[in-house]
Amino acid sequence: MSTFKAPKGTYDLIPPYSAKYLAVRDAISGPLRLSGYGYVETPGFEDVDLFARGVGESTDIVTKEMYTLTTKGGANLALRPEGTASVLRAALEANLHKAGGLPVKLWYSGSYYRYERPQKGRYRHFSQVGAEAIGAEDPALDAELIILADQAYRTLGLRNFRILLNSLGDQECRPVYREALQTFLRGLDLDEETVRRAEINPLRVLDDKRPEVQKQLAGAPMLRAYLCDACKAYHEEVRALITAAGVTFEDDEKLVRGLDYYTRTTFEFVHDGLGSQSAVGGGGRYDGLSEMIGGPALPSVGWALGVDRTVLALEAEGVELDIPAATSVFAVALGEAKPVLFGLVTELRKSGIAADISYGGKGLKGAMKDANRSGARFAVVAGDRDLAEGVVQLKDMESGEQSPVALAEVAEVLRAKLA
Ligand code: HAM
Repeated sequence: MSTFKAPKGTYDLIPPYSAKYLAVRDAISGPLRLSGYGYVETPGFEDVDLFARGVGESTDIVTKEMYTLTTKGGANLALRPEGTASVLRAALEANLHKAGGLPVKLWYSGSYYRYERPQKGRYRHFSQVGAEAIGAEDPALDAELIILADQAYRTLGLRNFRILLNSLGDQECRPVYREALQTFLRGLDLDEETVRRAEINPLRVLDDKRPEVQKQLAGAPMLRAYLCDACKAYHEEVRALITAAGVTFEDDEKLVRGLDYYTRTTFEFVHDGLGSQSAVGGGGRYDGLSEMIGGPALPSVGWALGVDRTVLALEAEGVELDIPAATSVFAVALGEAKPVLFGLVTELRKSGIAADISYGGKGLKGAMKDANRSGARFAVVAGDRDLAEGVVQLKDMESGEQSPVALAEVAEVLRAKLA
Protein backbone atom coordinates (compact mmCIF):
# COMPACT_ATOMS: atom_id res chain seq x y z
CA MET A 1 0.00 0.00 0.00
CA SER A 2 1.40 3.39 -0.91
CA THR A 3 0.78 6.59 1.01
CA PHE A 4 -1.20 7.82 -1.96
CA LYS A 5 -4.62 6.89 -3.29
CA ALA A 6 -6.38 7.56 -6.57
CA PRO A 7 -8.01 11.02 -6.28
CA LYS A 8 -11.62 11.20 -5.14
CA GLY A 9 -14.08 10.26 -7.88
CA THR A 10 -11.49 8.33 -9.89
CA TYR A 11 -10.48 4.69 -10.02
CA ASP A 12 -7.78 2.60 -11.60
CA LEU A 13 -8.33 -0.05 -14.22
CA ILE A 14 -6.46 -3.13 -13.11
CA PRO A 15 -5.99 -6.43 -14.95
CA PRO A 16 -7.80 -8.68 -15.54
CA TYR A 17 -10.83 -6.36 -15.05
CA SER A 18 -9.30 -3.70 -17.31
CA ALA A 19 -9.64 -6.08 -20.28
CA LYS A 20 -13.39 -5.40 -20.19
CA TYR A 21 -12.76 -1.74 -20.88
CA LEU A 22 -10.61 -2.52 -23.91
CA ALA A 23 -13.27 -4.92 -25.18
CA VAL A 24 -16.00 -2.30 -24.76
CA ARG A 25 -13.94 0.36 -26.55
CA ASP A 26 -13.27 -2.09 -29.39
CA ALA A 27 -16.92 -3.07 -29.66
CA ILE A 28 -18.09 0.54 -29.80
CA SER A 29 -15.47 1.66 -32.29
CA GLY A 30 -15.79 -1.45 -34.49
CA PRO A 31 -19.01 -0.43 -36.28
CA LEU A 32 -17.66 3.13 -36.72
CA ARG A 33 -14.45 1.91 -38.34
CA LEU A 34 -16.59 -0.07 -40.80
CA SER A 35 -18.64 3.01 -41.64
CA GLY A 36 -16.09 5.54 -42.84
CA TYR A 37 -15.16 7.12 -39.51
CA GLY A 38 -11.46 8.00 -39.13
CA TYR A 39 -9.68 8.06 -35.79
CA VAL A 40 -8.97 11.45 -34.23
CA GLU A 41 -7.07 12.26 -31.05
CA THR A 42 -7.00 15.69 -29.45
CA PRO A 43 -5.21 17.06 -26.36
CA GLY A 44 -6.57 16.36 -22.88
CA PHE A 45 -6.89 20.10 -22.29
CA GLU A 46 -8.07 23.02 -24.37
CA ASP A 47 -8.61 26.76 -24.11
CA VAL A 48 -11.31 27.13 -21.46
CA ASP A 49 -13.34 29.38 -23.79
CA LEU A 50 -13.76 26.57 -26.31
CA PHE A 51 -15.99 24.77 -23.81
CA ALA A 52 -17.52 27.93 -22.35
CA ARG A 53 -18.71 28.97 -25.79
CA GLY A 54 -19.31 25.51 -27.20
CA VAL A 55 -20.91 23.60 -24.34
CA GLY A 56 -22.65 26.71 -23.00
CA GLU A 57 -22.06 29.34 -20.29
CA SER A 58 -25.12 28.32 -18.28
CA THR A 59 -24.56 24.55 -18.27
CA ASP A 60 -23.54 22.67 -15.13
CA ILE A 61 -20.52 21.40 -17.05
CA VAL A 62 -19.15 24.92 -17.58
CA THR A 63 -20.33 26.65 -14.40
CA LYS A 64 -19.51 23.91 -11.90
CA GLU A 65 -17.72 20.94 -13.36
CA MET A 66 -14.69 22.07 -15.33
CA TYR A 67 -11.19 21.52 -14.05
CA THR A 68 -9.55 24.79 -15.01
CA LEU A 69 -5.97 25.94 -14.68
CA THR A 70 -3.80 28.88 -15.58
CA THR A 71 -0.43 27.99 -17.07
CA LYS A 72 2.83 29.69 -16.16
CA GLY A 73 2.46 31.50 -19.48
CA GLY A 74 -0.96 32.82 -18.44
CA ALA A 75 -3.14 30.65 -20.71
CA ASN A 76 -6.50 29.62 -19.26
CA LEU A 77 -7.05 25.94 -19.94
CA ALA A 78 -9.60 23.33 -18.96
CA LEU A 79 -9.27 19.57 -18.79
CA ARG A 80 -11.71 18.45 -21.47
CA PRO A 81 -15.15 17.73 -20.00
CA GLU A 82 -16.40 16.31 -23.33
CA GLY A 83 -15.15 15.60 -26.84
CA THR A 84 -17.37 17.30 -29.38
CA ALA A 85 -16.04 20.86 -29.10
CA SER A 86 -12.43 19.60 -29.22
CA VAL A 87 -13.01 17.35 -32.22
CA LEU A 88 -14.76 20.11 -34.16
CA ARG A 89 -11.97 22.53 -33.21
CA ALA A 90 -9.39 20.03 -34.49
CA ALA A 91 -11.29 19.40 -37.74
CA LEU A 92 -11.55 23.15 -38.39
CA GLU A 93 -7.90 23.75 -37.50
CA ALA A 94 -6.79 21.02 -39.93
CA ASN A 95 -9.24 22.30 -42.57
CA LEU A 96 -10.68 18.81 -42.91
CA HIS A 97 -13.95 20.36 -44.06
CA LYS A 98 -12.13 21.82 -47.08
CA ALA A 99 -9.90 18.85 -47.82
CA GLY A 100 -12.38 16.33 -49.09
CA GLY A 101 -16.05 15.64 -49.27
CA LEU A 102 -18.47 16.32 -46.47
CA PRO A 103 -19.33 14.99 -43.98
CA VAL A 104 -16.00 14.58 -42.25
CA LYS A 105 -16.56 11.45 -40.15
CA LEU A 106 -14.39 11.03 -37.06
CA TRP A 107 -14.31 8.77 -34.01
CA TYR A 108 -12.38 9.08 -30.77
CA SER A 109 -11.75 7.37 -27.50
CA GLY A 110 -10.34 8.92 -24.38
CA SER A 111 -10.51 10.33 -20.88
CA TYR A 112 -12.80 13.17 -19.85
CA TYR A 113 -12.95 15.15 -16.61
CA ARG A 114 -15.87 16.63 -14.72
CA TYR A 115 -15.80 17.87 -11.16
CA GLU A 116 -19.05 16.14 -10.20
CA ARG A 117 -20.29 14.71 -6.93
CA PRO A 118 -18.97 11.16 -7.22
CA GLN A 119 -21.35 8.21 -6.99
CA LYS A 120 -21.78 4.87 -8.72
CA GLY A 121 -21.57 5.56 -12.46
CA ARG A 122 -20.57 9.18 -11.96
CA TYR A 123 -16.87 9.87 -11.77
CA ARG A 124 -14.54 12.82 -12.03
CA HIS A 125 -12.45 10.98 -14.58
CA PHE A 126 -14.29 8.75 -17.01
CA SER A 127 -13.89 7.48 -20.52
CA GLN A 128 -15.95 7.83 -23.67
CA VAL A 129 -15.89 6.52 -27.19
CA GLY A 130 -17.46 9.08 -29.48
CA ALA A 131 -18.29 9.79 -33.10
CA GLU A 132 -18.85 13.04 -34.95
CA ALA A 133 -20.09 13.51 -38.52
CA ILE A 134 -19.24 17.07 -39.44
CA GLY A 135 -20.63 19.23 -42.24
CA ALA A 136 -23.78 17.56 -43.52
CA GLU A 137 -27.45 18.00 -42.82
CA ASP A 138 -29.00 14.70 -43.72
CA PRO A 139 -31.45 12.66 -41.62
CA ALA A 140 -29.65 9.51 -42.82
CA LEU A 141 -26.54 10.64 -40.97
CA ASP A 142 -28.43 11.06 -37.69
CA ALA A 143 -30.00 7.65 -38.27
CA GLU A 144 -26.63 6.08 -39.14
CA LEU A 145 -25.13 7.16 -35.83
CA ILE A 146 -28.06 5.90 -33.76
CA ILE A 147 -28.03 2.58 -35.63
CA LEU A 148 -24.25 2.18 -35.13
CA ALA A 149 -24.50 2.77 -31.38
CA ASP A 150 -27.37 0.30 -31.17
CA GLN A 151 -25.32 -2.23 -33.13
CA ALA A 152 -22.31 -1.72 -30.83
CA TYR A 153 -24.41 -2.36 -27.73
CA ARG A 154 -26.08 -5.41 -29.24
CA THR A 155 -22.72 -6.85 -30.31
CA LEU A 156 -21.59 -6.53 -26.71
CA GLY A 157 -24.65 -8.50 -25.65
CA LEU A 158 -26.43 -5.61 -23.97
CA ARG A 159 -30.21 -5.95 -24.15
CA ASN A 160 -31.96 -3.80 -21.54
CA PHE A 161 -31.13 -0.39 -22.89
CA ARG A 162 -33.59 2.06 -24.35
CA ILE A 163 -33.11 4.82 -26.89
CA LEU A 164 -34.86 8.09 -26.09
CA LEU A 165 -35.35 10.39 -29.07
CA ASN A 166 -36.38 14.01 -29.40
CA SER A 167 -36.04 17.03 -31.64
CA LEU A 168 -34.97 20.35 -30.17
CA GLY A 169 -35.91 22.39 -33.24
CA ASP A 170 -33.69 24.86 -35.06
CA GLN A 171 -32.85 28.59 -35.06
CA GLU A 172 -36.23 29.29 -36.60
CA CYS A 173 -38.68 27.51 -34.34
CA ARG A 174 -36.74 27.21 -31.10
CA PRO A 175 -36.68 30.98 -30.32
CA VAL A 176 -40.48 31.09 -30.62
CA TYR A 177 -40.78 28.14 -28.25
CA ARG A 178 -38.19 29.63 -25.93
CA GLU A 179 -40.28 32.81 -25.59
CA ALA A 180 -43.39 30.79 -24.81
CA LEU A 181 -41.56 28.65 -22.26
CA GLN A 182 -39.95 31.68 -20.64
CA THR A 183 -43.31 33.39 -20.28
CA PHE A 184 -44.62 30.23 -18.61
CA LEU A 185 -41.58 29.90 -16.31
CA ARG A 186 -41.81 33.53 -15.18
CA GLY A 187 -45.18 32.71 -13.63
CA LEU A 188 -43.69 29.96 -11.41
CA ASP A 189 -42.27 30.04 -7.91
CA LEU A 190 -38.61 29.16 -8.56
CA ASP A 191 -35.39 29.69 -6.62
CA GLU A 192 -32.96 32.38 -7.69
CA GLU A 193 -30.60 30.11 -9.59
CA THR A 194 -33.41 28.47 -11.53
CA VAL A 195 -34.89 31.88 -12.39
CA ARG A 196 -31.48 32.85 -13.75
CA ARG A 197 -31.27 29.60 -15.70
CA ALA A 198 -34.76 30.20 -17.08
CA GLU A 199 -33.54 33.48 -18.52
CA ILE A 200 -30.36 32.06 -20.07
CA ASN A 201 -31.52 28.61 -21.12
CA PRO A 202 -35.14 27.91 -20.25
CA LEU A 203 -35.13 24.46 -21.87
CA ARG A 204 -32.71 23.25 -19.23
CA VAL A 205 -35.30 23.97 -16.56
CA LEU A 206 -37.47 21.21 -18.06
CA ASP A 207 -34.64 18.83 -17.16
CA ASP A 208 -34.70 19.84 -13.47
CA LYS A 209 -35.08 16.62 -11.51
CA ARG A 210 -36.39 18.18 -8.25
CA PRO A 211 -40.02 17.16 -7.56
CA GLU A 212 -40.99 20.69 -6.45
CA VAL A 213 -39.89 22.01 -9.84
CA GLN A 214 -41.33 19.10 -11.83
CA LYS A 215 -44.71 19.61 -10.15
CA GLN A 216 -44.85 23.21 -11.35
CA LEU A 217 -43.81 22.20 -14.84
CA ALA A 218 -47.02 20.28 -15.50
CA GLY A 219 -48.76 22.24 -18.23
CA ALA A 220 -45.54 23.80 -19.56
CA PRO A 221 -45.60 24.32 -23.32
CA MET A 222 -43.73 21.51 -25.10
CA LEU A 223 -41.39 22.03 -28.03
CA ARG A 224 -43.10 19.38 -30.14
CA ALA A 225 -46.04 21.71 -30.67
CA TYR A 226 -43.73 24.50 -31.87
CA LEU A 227 -41.49 22.60 -34.31
CA CYS A 228 -41.41 24.25 -37.74
CA ASP A 229 -42.33 22.19 -40.81
CA ALA A 230 -38.70 21.67 -41.82
CA CYS A 231 -37.77 20.34 -38.36
CA LYS A 232 -40.87 18.14 -38.25
CA ALA A 233 -40.11 16.64 -41.66
CA TYR A 234 -36.45 16.12 -40.74
CA HIS A 235 -37.40 14.39 -37.50
CA GLU A 236 -39.94 12.15 -39.21
CA GLU A 237 -37.30 11.04 -41.68
CA VAL A 238 -34.85 10.19 -38.91
CA ARG A 239 -37.56 8.20 -37.15
CA ALA A 240 -38.51 6.35 -40.33
CA LEU A 241 -34.91 5.40 -41.13
CA ILE A 242 -34.21 4.08 -37.64
CA THR A 243 -37.47 2.17 -37.62
CA ALA A 244 -36.68 0.63 -41.01
CA ALA A 245 -33.34 -0.56 -39.58
CA GLY A 246 -35.24 -2.43 -36.88
CA VAL A 247 -33.98 -0.20 -34.08
CA THR A 248 -36.60 0.53 -31.46
CA PHE A 249 -36.75 3.87 -29.70
CA GLU A 250 -39.05 5.91 -27.51
CA ASP A 251 -40.14 9.45 -28.31
CA ASP A 252 -39.27 11.59 -25.31
CA GLU A 253 -40.33 15.18 -25.73
CA LYS A 254 -38.77 16.11 -22.40
CA LEU A 255 -35.28 15.02 -23.41
CA VAL A 256 -33.12 18.16 -23.30
CA ARG A 257 -29.51 17.01 -22.64
CA GLY A 258 -26.98 18.86 -20.52
CA LEU A 259 -25.07 20.64 -23.26
CA ASP A 260 -26.31 23.75 -25.07
CA TYR A 261 -25.09 23.10 -28.59
CA TYR A 262 -27.85 20.75 -29.65
CA THR A 263 -30.34 21.46 -32.43
CA ARG A 264 -32.95 19.15 -33.95
CA THR A 265 -32.19 15.46 -33.31
CA THR A 266 -31.19 14.59 -29.74
CA PHE A 267 -31.05 11.16 -28.21
CA GLU A 268 -29.91 9.30 -25.17
CA PHE A 269 -29.16 5.64 -24.51
CA VAL A 270 -30.41 4.75 -21.05
CA HIS A 271 -30.06 1.57 -19.05
CA ASP A 272 -32.45 0.74 -16.26
CA GLY A 273 -29.98 -1.31 -14.22
CA LEU A 274 -27.78 1.63 -13.28
CA GLY A 275 -29.76 3.56 -10.69
CA SER A 276 -29.78 7.33 -11.01
CA GLN A 277 -26.93 7.57 -13.54
CA SER A 278 -28.97 5.81 -16.19
CA ALA A 279 -27.57 7.48 -19.33
CA VAL A 280 -24.96 5.21 -20.88
CA GLY A 281 -24.58 7.44 -23.91
CA GLY A 282 -26.01 10.45 -25.62
CA GLY A 283 -25.74 12.75 -28.56
CA GLY A 284 -27.47 14.69 -31.24
CA ARG A 285 -27.19 17.32 -33.92
CA TYR A 286 -25.26 20.53 -33.30
CA ASP A 287 -25.78 22.62 -36.41
CA GLY A 288 -24.60 25.91 -34.90
CA LEU A 289 -21.53 24.82 -32.91
CA SER A 290 -18.99 25.50 -35.65
CA GLU A 291 -20.07 29.14 -35.94
CA MET A 292 -20.09 29.45 -32.14
CA ILE A 293 -16.39 28.60 -32.06
CA GLY A 294 -15.49 30.83 -34.99
CA GLY A 295 -15.87 28.41 -37.91
CA PRO A 296 -18.10 28.38 -41.00
CA ALA A 297 -21.60 26.89 -41.01
CA LEU A 298 -21.10 23.14 -40.66
CA PRO A 299 -24.21 21.27 -39.56
CA SER A 300 -23.06 18.19 -37.67
CA VAL A 301 -24.23 15.29 -35.55
CA GLY A 302 -22.56 12.90 -33.14
CA TRP A 303 -22.65 10.90 -29.93
CA ALA A 304 -20.49 9.72 -27.10
CA LEU A 305 -20.98 6.49 -25.20
CA GLY A 306 -19.63 6.26 -21.67
CA VAL A 307 -17.29 3.29 -21.31
CA ASP A 308 -17.54 3.15 -17.49
CA ARG A 309 -21.33 3.09 -17.52
CA THR A 310 -21.43 0.60 -20.40
CA VAL A 311 -19.29 -1.77 -18.32
CA LEU A 312 -21.66 -1.25 -15.35
CA ALA A 313 -24.65 -1.94 -17.61
CA LEU A 314 -23.06 -5.18 -18.86
CA GLU A 315 -22.47 -6.23 -15.27
CA ALA A 316 -26.03 -5.33 -14.30
CA GLU A 317 -27.26 -7.67 -17.04
CA GLY A 318 -24.76 -10.36 -16.11
CA VAL A 319 -23.19 -10.30 -19.58
CA GLU A 320 -19.81 -12.06 -19.64
CA LEU A 321 -17.65 -10.71 -22.45
CA ASP A 322 -15.71 -13.20 -24.51
CA ILE A 323 -12.24 -12.02 -23.56
CA PRO A 324 -9.45 -14.33 -24.75
CA ALA A 325 -6.83 -15.28 -22.16
CA ALA A 326 -3.93 -12.85 -22.18
CA THR A 327 -1.46 -15.70 -22.62
CA SER A 328 -1.73 -18.81 -24.84
CA VAL A 329 1.61 -20.43 -24.10
CA PHE A 330 3.56 -20.28 -20.84
CA ALA A 331 7.15 -21.47 -20.66
CA VAL A 332 8.57 -23.06 -17.53
CA ALA A 333 12.35 -23.20 -17.74
CA LEU A 334 14.38 -25.18 -15.23
CA GLY A 335 18.14 -25.37 -14.82
CA GLU A 336 20.00 -24.26 -17.95
CA ALA A 337 16.87 -24.24 -20.14
CA LYS A 338 16.05 -20.57 -19.56
CA PRO A 339 17.85 -19.05 -22.59
CA VAL A 340 16.44 -21.74 -24.89
CA LEU A 341 12.82 -21.27 -23.77
CA PHE A 342 13.30 -17.49 -23.67
CA GLY A 343 14.25 -17.77 -27.36
CA LEU A 344 11.19 -19.92 -28.06
CA VAL A 345 8.88 -17.41 -26.36
CA THR A 346 10.39 -14.56 -28.38
CA GLU A 347 9.85 -16.54 -31.59
CA LEU A 348 6.23 -17.37 -30.67
CA ARG A 349 5.49 -13.72 -29.87
CA LYS A 350 6.92 -12.65 -33.24
CA SER A 351 4.50 -14.98 -34.97
CA GLY A 352 1.56 -13.50 -33.07
CA ILE A 353 1.12 -16.08 -30.33
CA ALA A 354 0.63 -14.62 -26.84
CA ALA A 355 3.44 -16.20 -24.84
CA ASP A 356 5.03 -15.64 -21.46
CA ILE A 357 7.72 -17.26 -19.32
CA SER A 358 8.32 -17.59 -15.59
CA TYR A 359 10.76 -15.11 -14.13
CA GLY A 360 12.71 -14.89 -10.92
CA GLY A 361 14.47 -18.25 -10.87
CA LYS A 362 11.52 -20.24 -9.51
CA GLY A 363 11.46 -24.01 -9.11
CA LEU A 364 8.99 -26.26 -10.94
CA LYS A 365 6.17 -25.79 -8.42
CA GLY A 366 6.32 -21.99 -8.34
CA ALA A 367 6.74 -21.71 -12.10
CA MET A 368 3.77 -24.05 -12.74
CA LYS A 369 1.70 -21.84 -10.43
CA ASP A 370 2.59 -18.91 -12.70
CA ALA A 371 1.55 -20.98 -15.71
CA ASN A 372 -1.83 -21.74 -14.11
CA ARG A 373 -2.38 -18.13 -13.12
CA SER A 374 -1.62 -16.92 -16.65
CA GLY A 375 -4.62 -18.80 -18.03
CA ALA A 376 -2.40 -20.23 -20.78
CA ARG A 377 -3.76 -23.04 -22.94
CA PHE A 378 -0.36 -24.78 -23.11
CA ALA A 379 2.72 -24.91 -20.94
CA VAL A 380 6.16 -25.70 -22.34
CA VAL A 381 8.34 -27.21 -19.62
CA ALA A 382 12.02 -28.04 -20.01
CA GLY A 383 14.97 -28.82 -17.77
CA ASP A 384 18.53 -29.91 -18.40
CA ARG A 385 17.63 -33.53 -19.13
CA ASP A 386 14.98 -32.54 -21.72
CA LEU A 387 17.44 -30.28 -23.49
CA ALA A 388 20.05 -33.04 -23.59
CA GLU A 389 17.44 -35.15 -25.42
CA GLY A 390 16.49 -32.25 -27.71
CA VAL A 391 12.89 -32.12 -26.44
CA VAL A 392 10.54 -30.03 -24.34
CA GLN A 393 7.47 -31.24 -22.42
CA LEU A 394 4.28 -29.84 -23.92
CA LYS A 395 1.47 -29.75 -21.37
CA ASP A 396 -2.16 -29.24 -22.33
CA MET A 397 -3.39 -27.12 -19.39
CA GLU A 398 -7.03 -28.13 -19.94
CA SER A 399 -6.65 -31.90 -20.07
CA GLY A 400 -3.45 -32.05 -18.01
CA GLU A 401 -1.87 -34.35 -20.64
CA GLN A 402 1.84 -33.94 -21.16
CA SER A 403 4.10 -35.31 -23.90
CA PRO A 404 7.60 -34.66 -25.23
CA VAL A 405 7.94 -32.69 -28.47
CA ALA A 406 11.17 -32.08 -30.36
CA LEU A 407 12.51 -28.63 -29.49
CA ALA A 408 13.01 -27.86 -33.19
CA GLU A 409 9.33 -28.56 -33.87
CA VAL A 410 7.55 -27.15 -30.84
CA ALA A 411 6.89 -23.69 -32.30
CA GLU A 412 5.26 -25.23 -35.37
CA VAL A 413 3.25 -27.70 -33.24
CA LEU A 414 1.96 -24.88 -31.04
CA ARG A 415 1.06 -22.74 -34.04
CA ALA A 416 -0.96 -25.64 -35.45
CA LYS A 417 -2.67 -26.44 -32.15
CA LEU A 418 -3.61 -22.81 -31.54
CA ALA A 419 -4.73 -22.04 -35.11
P1 HAM B 1 -22.79 13.53 -22.38
O1 HAM B 1 -24.21 13.09 -22.33
O2 HAM B 1 -22.41 14.64 -21.48
O3 HAM B 1 -22.52 13.93 -23.87
O4 HAM B 1 -21.82 12.31 -22.08
C1 HAM B 1 -21.94 11.10 -22.81
C2 HAM B 1 -21.78 9.93 -21.88
O5 HAM B 1 -20.57 10.03 -21.14
C3 HAM B 1 -22.85 9.79 -20.82
O6 HAM B 1 -24.00 9.20 -21.35
C4 HAM B 1 -22.16 8.93 -19.80
O7 HAM B 1 -22.22 7.56 -20.16
C5 HAM B 1 -20.73 9.39 -19.89
N1 HAM B 1 -20.46 10.32 -18.78
C6 HAM B 1 -20.69 11.64 -18.73
N2 HAM B 1 -20.32 12.14 -17.53
C7 HAM B 1 -19.87 11.09 -16.80
C8 HAM B 1 -19.34 10.94 -15.47
N3 HAM B 1 -19.18 11.97 -14.66
N4 HAM B 1 -18.98 9.71 -15.05
C9 HAM B 1 -19.11 8.63 -15.87
N5 HAM B 1 -19.59 8.72 -17.12
C10 HAM B 1 -19.97 9.93 -17.59
C11 HAM B 1 -21.34 14.38 -24.35
O8 HAM B 1 -20.30 14.35 -23.74
C12 HAM B 1 -21.43 14.87 -25.78
N6 HAM B 1 -20.09 15.35 -26.19
C13 HAM B 1 -21.92 13.76 -26.70
C14 HAM B 1 -21.99 14.17 -28.12
C15 HAM B 1 -21.11 13.87 -29.09
N7 HAM B 1 -22.94 14.93 -28.66
C16 HAM B 1 -22.67 15.12 -29.94
N8 HAM B 1 -21.55 14.49 -30.22
